[in-house]
Parts: sequence; C-alpha cells; structure tokens
Amino acid sequence: QEDIFKNVISHAKEYGFIFPSSEIYDGLSAVYDYAQNGAELKKNIREYWWKAMVQMHENIVGIDAAILMHPTTWKASGHVDAFNDPLIDNKDSKKRFRADVLIEDYCEKLQQKAQKEIEKARERFGDAFDEAQFVATNGRVVDYLSKKKTILERMAKSLDSGDLEDVKALIEELEIADPDTGSKNWTEVRQFNLMFGTKLGAAAENAMDLYLRPETAQGIFVNFLNVQKTGRMKIPFGIAQTGKAFRNEIVARQFIFRMREFEQMEMQFFVKPGEEMKWYEYWKETRLKWHQSLGLGAENYRFHDHEKLAHYANAAADIEFNFPFGFKELEGIHSRTDFDLKAHEQYSGKKLQYFDTEENKNYVPYVVETSVGLDRMFLAVFSKSLQEETLEDGSTRTVLRLPSVLAPTKAAVLPLVKKDGLPELAREIVEELKWDFNVSYDEKDAVGRRYRRQDALGTPFCITVDHQTLEDQTVTLRHRDTMVQDRVKIADLRGIINAEVSM
Ligand code: GAP
Repeated sequence: QEDIFKNVISHAKEYGFIFPSSEIYDGLSAVYDYAQNGAELKKNIREYWWKAMVQMHENIVGIDAAILMHPTTWKASGHVDAFNDPLIDNKDSKKRFRADVLIEDYCEKLQQKAQKEIEKARERFGDAFDEAQFVATNGRVVDYLSKKKTILERMAKSLDSGDLEDVKALIEELEIADPDTGSKNWTEVRQFNLMFGTKLGAAAENAMDLYLRPETAQGIFVNFLNVQKTGRMKIPFGIAQTGKAFRNEIVARQFIFRMREFEQMEMQFFVKPGEEMKWYEYWKETRLKWHQSLGLGAENYRFHDHEKLAHYANAAADIEFNFPFGFKELEGIHSRTDFDLKAHEQYSGKKLQYFDTEENKNYVPYVVETSVGLDRMFLAVFSKSLQEETLEDGSTRTVLRLPSVLAPTKAAVLPLVKKDGLPELAREIVEELKWDFNVSYDEKDAVGRRYRRQDALGTPFCITVDHQTLEDQTVTLRHRDTMVQDRVKIADLRGIINAEVSM
C-alpha cells in the first residue's frame, strides 16, 4: 500500500501532473502546483462536476464569489469561535500534533489488532468462517473494539464540551507517545484556529483584518437572496460554485489529500423547513451515483454517517473513497438547517427570507449541502487509474486508465517515421482535431516507446500515420486500455473519439 502511494506521487511528478509548490526553495509544506497535465485533468474534473450539478439541473445555478469576504461573515458562520483543532506539543521533540489525531491513530492500532485476530481465524476455519459471529463472540476482538469505541466516545464528548484537560488526560492514560521519539512528555492541549488571516488596506492604523475563506459555502449564503431574486428561483433550488479555500492544517500529510490551499466544489440546496431530511437522503444517493459513474469501481466508495457533527449541522455523512492509504473522506453531505442564513440575518441586520407563494408566507430556508474537494477527487481518480500491467510476452507497462472524459489529452498523433511527408500529414490531422479535443503531436523515439509514454499520461487514443496513410487516407487507431489497433479513415476520427470522450 505504501509503495503504491509512493508510485502515485512520483508518477504525478515525472509525467507533469503535480509539483511541490516553489520547489526550487525546497517547497512549501502541504502546498502543491498543478503542472501541464494536472491542470487539464483538474479542469476536466471541475467541468464534469459543473455539468452534472448546474447544466443538468434546471433549478441549480452557479456563481463565482470572491475569496475575500467581509470579516463579520466568519463571526456569523461560527468559524472565528469554533473552527479549531485541538493542538498538543511534545516537549522533547518540540513537534506539534493534533490531539484528536494522536488518539485516533491509537484507536486505529486497536482496530488493526482486531483485524489480525479475524484474519487468523479466517485462515484456521476456511470456508466455514462466519466473520460477524466471530467478531461478536471472540473475547479479544470484543475487547479491542469496545475499548476503541469507549475511547472515541470519551474524546468526542470532551472535545464537544471544550474539556481539553480531559483530552490530555486521555493521551496520558493511553500512554500515547510521539511516534518518532517515543516520548510521552506532552504540553497542555490548546485550541488552534484554522483560518489564515490577512490584511486589507495599506495604512497600518486603519487596515482591516480579513480571513482567506476556509470554505466556499459562505459566498453562497451571503448571496442567497441576490441570486434568488435575480434568477427568480423557486424553492427547492440550489446554488453551486467551485473555488479555492484555505486552512492552516496542523497535520498536513498524504500529498494532496490534506492541503493548506485547496479547491472545493460545493452546492447549497435551499429547501422548505421540514423537508431537509428527504433532500439530504436524495443528495447522498445522487452524489454517490455521480462518483460511481466514473467507473473506478463501486466497491471503492462507502458512506460514513457522522455521530459527531460540525457546529452547523443536524445530520452529516461522508462519501469515503478507498485511497492508497485506506478509506477516507472524499465528499461531505451536510444538513445545515437554517443555521447560516439565520446567523447572517442576525449579524447583518438584513432579512434573508424567502416568500413562498404556495404557502403565502415568508421563511428562512433550510440548507442541504454537498461539498467535495477537487484535489481529493484528483487524488482518487489518479491513484485508482495508475496501474502496472503484465503483458502476454511477460513485459510490464504502466498505464494510467483515466476515465476518457477526464483525460488531459484525448489523442496523440504520431508519424511512424520522421520523413516521406508523414510528419506533415500528422500535423494536418492535429490541426483538424484540435478544434474539438486536446491533442498532442509526438515524433520522438520509436513508436512503441511513444505508445508507452501516452499510456503513462492516460491518453485514450494514439493515431499513427504511416505510408499506407499517403495512399488511402487511413490511420492506425490504438486504444490505451486494450492496446487493440484498428485501421480507420481520417474522416471518421472525430466521430470515434467524440463517442468515447464526450461528457
Ligand atoms: N462547506 C462544508 C465544508 O467545507 P468540509 O467537510 O470541511 O465541509 C468539504 O470540507 C470537503 O473539502 C472535504 O470532503 C474534502 O474533500 C475537502 N477538504 C477539506 N479540507 C481539505 C484540505 N485541507 N485539503 C484538501 N481537501 C480538503
């Protein structure tokens, strides 16, 4: 698993998808740049989302709000007071940790111990093994799992009530050590706000303290009435947007999974109070189906219903994805009640109400939100698509089986040799196709090597121009996944490619 993840990171760099930010200065922790192929893949994921959410829904419109917002926004949204992570330092190593992550890691170890017992028993009993019964009755497994449950419950309760001393006591009782040094010498636990601050205005005395938005959602809430009125929207309706968000994450690890600057794709769906659970269930299912439509394998997704809720939610679930490091959150679906709109009414003194013509009354709508990290989507798609394959002749090839609709380049045009007019003819094909698709041209190296390079870049088609092309206007069309080669007319290329790559 660890090797697979290392391969993902090095492939992303070697083939021009993702570079560490400002790498010549040794990079900036948890900040990354999308390179020439990564930017295309990311853009295609964004468009695929936008099409499904905005273009395909008559009652959802898209906006593009500013990253900088009036600072009172974050007071009203609760982020100034509640968007914190509990932080603890190790006195010996001077390293900083998230207290809850330390405890969760400990619980993960208990889970692994339980899993080991289960695997041992499975080997012993073979086909007759009944996992559910074993988990319920085996003393050791029951102990591990119930201990894990008790610890997590106690932690959640202490965090909820702000009892940070108890969080520290828990770390000490469990004898949790700094994973690198083994030291158990901890400081107190403190709350650390995750928002990045900045200043507006040049003169020091009247500069205004601002925050970089930690979620895109608030840009939608503050525009709710503007959009509703100008778009003549009728409830239920949605407002969608994609854009950057910033969080000063304490534990920033796992490549682009947890970044300090990232992009969200969010949709806030405004509904009649009392109907929110119906829409919450609807969006859970709809979003899961959207993910599964990419064909990365339905078994790689699962729901995780939250017991511990964010300060704004009355129900919440994650769609988790099977990343190279296990199942982790990919998207959140939250029932946010009227928390945000009510809070903005209170802080701004402006009414944010909807007049329901059927009911003939005003009310503050409830909100169901879908929120997916674009970078996390990128990591999900990229890591599942990257495959090592052993071919019939025993050789191996690396192939990036990206869903064709998302591939950065749809076709590469390759003259078989660099003479006899083949490059010119290949260029003509590029000129023709580039109006409809991202296509590339490559004449360097033997054609077999060029195929492998395109496989590694995830290009669904290679079009090879050879001497026969000069005679009958046909080319070889090679398919990335099957490596099957067909002879097709140049005039048919557009239709064939379009059938496979259009959204
Ligand atoms: N408006 C709701 C909201 O922001 P969230 O669960 O905090 O909810 C939503 O974030 C999604 O944003 C997550 O499911 C994840 O995909 C993405 N996300 C959150 N923090 C991230 C980070 N530090 N790096 C990359 N993606 C992140």
